[in-house]
Amino acid sequence: MSAIVRLQPSGHEVTCEPGDTVLTALEKAGYIMPNNCRAGACGECKTKVLDGVFDQGMVLDMALSQEDRGQGFGLMCMAKPLSPSLDIEFGTIDALQKLFPPREFVPFVVTDKVARTPTMVELSLRPLGENLRYWPGQYLMIGDERAGAPLRSYSIANAPRPDGEVHLLVTRVEGGRTSTWVHDRLAAGDQILAHGPYGTFVGDPSVDTPVLCLASGSGLAPILGLADAALRRGFRHGTTLVYSARTADDALLRGLLTWWERKHRTFRSFTTYTGANPPEGAQFTGRIPTILPGLFPTLEKHSVFIAGNPDFVEACKAAVLGLGARPELVHVEGYFPHWPAEIPPADRLG
Ligand SMILES: Cc1cc2nc3c(=O)[nH]c(=O)nc-3n(C[C@H](O)[C@H](O)[C@H](O)COP(=O)(O)OP(=O)(O)OC[C@H]3O[C@@H](n4cnc5c(N)ncnc54)[C@H](O)[C@@H]3O)c2cc1C
Ligand code: FES
Repeated sequence: MSAIVRLQPSGHEVTCEPGDTVLTALEKAGYIMPNNCRAGACGECKTKVLDGVFDQGMVLDMALSQEDRGQGFGLMCMAKPLSPSLDIEFGTIDALQKLFPPREFVPFVVTDKVARTPTMVELSLRPLGENLRYWPGQYLMIGDERAGAPLRSYSIANAPRPDGEVHLLVTRVEGGRTSTWVHDRLAAGDQILAHGPYGTFVGDPSVDTPVLCLASGSGLAPILGLADAALRRGFRHGTTLVYSARTADDALLRGLLTWWERKHRTFRSFTTYTGANPPEGAQFTGRIPTILPGLFPTLEKHSVFIAGNPDFVEACKAAVLGLGARPELVHVEGYFPHWPAEIPPADRLG
């Protein structure tokens, strides 16, 4: 049976279908809830449950401590209601309907697949039906269970286009089921089913601060989506992208970034090389947290967007906060490995 999730203090009600998590139910109804991993690993969706019973599923202690549990908090990306209703704390400002409800099993055709670096491919996907509506910075989930590729999250690397085409940058993870399927089996002309959009790593179009974007590896994807949208709408306050690559071969989409720089005076990008053999004439070498103070003595007035693997994101976040960035203007997207969802038995659902 479905359950009611009641948002407090607004009292708004959302229906949670059997098998859905509270996060999924909120998103289907168009509400924003911060989330990064959808897998009980990052703690981003931690929420106080005021009334009702839920199954928390299997989550990491570092994301939800025993003390958190004792105080009534839960991770909504994995929580499934067990009682007919669940009251959760949900700020009134956030309770505005802003996001597009995610869709499931949306058919796309792979129109192109290009190797961008030795370990990364770019997929171009065109919708067969209606365009998928999303905000720049959000992500899709793709996979093919029959081919042994479970659903995984991939950020959309472009702003919405009239033809609905979306681009994904997928890094090969050694032994990784879905990334290996994308690299070794998926081909131009294949049809796939995508789910989404998900995520809250979205830029506020009305922001009136300069923007700093930090990315490594395929963390460039959501940053490209955000920057693409900002440049198209003539964002005036300046966007700086700092990209971390190990080698010259890993420096992604240099051509596109150079074109953006030449076309838009408000956009600049730097690449820093972290490997033992940086290319000759490299402008920067070393990790972003090390070079950042030389580029920005203070970040008090900046909005900051950081995306990439969780260690990279944490290190950059600490660095930008150390340079005075305001915590509420620091947005992060950590590419947490997937954590299998635990589905409670049907007879335990309320
Ligand atoms: C919000 C979000 C957005 C994401 N966007 C992108 C994106 O745009 N492009 C992209 O390439 N990936 C992205 N990811 C990561 C992606 O969803 C998968 O986790 C990744 O592709 C690995 O999936 P897999 O099925 O190949 O590996 P799995 O079969 O899940 O994992 C196999 C093994 O590899 C380990 N592993 C998984 N990921 C990594 C890693 N990154 N580094 C080292 N070891 C790992 C696992 O712990 C496991 O032991 C994103 C993740 C999140 C949460
Ligand atoms: S723990 Fe819920 S989104 Fe990461």
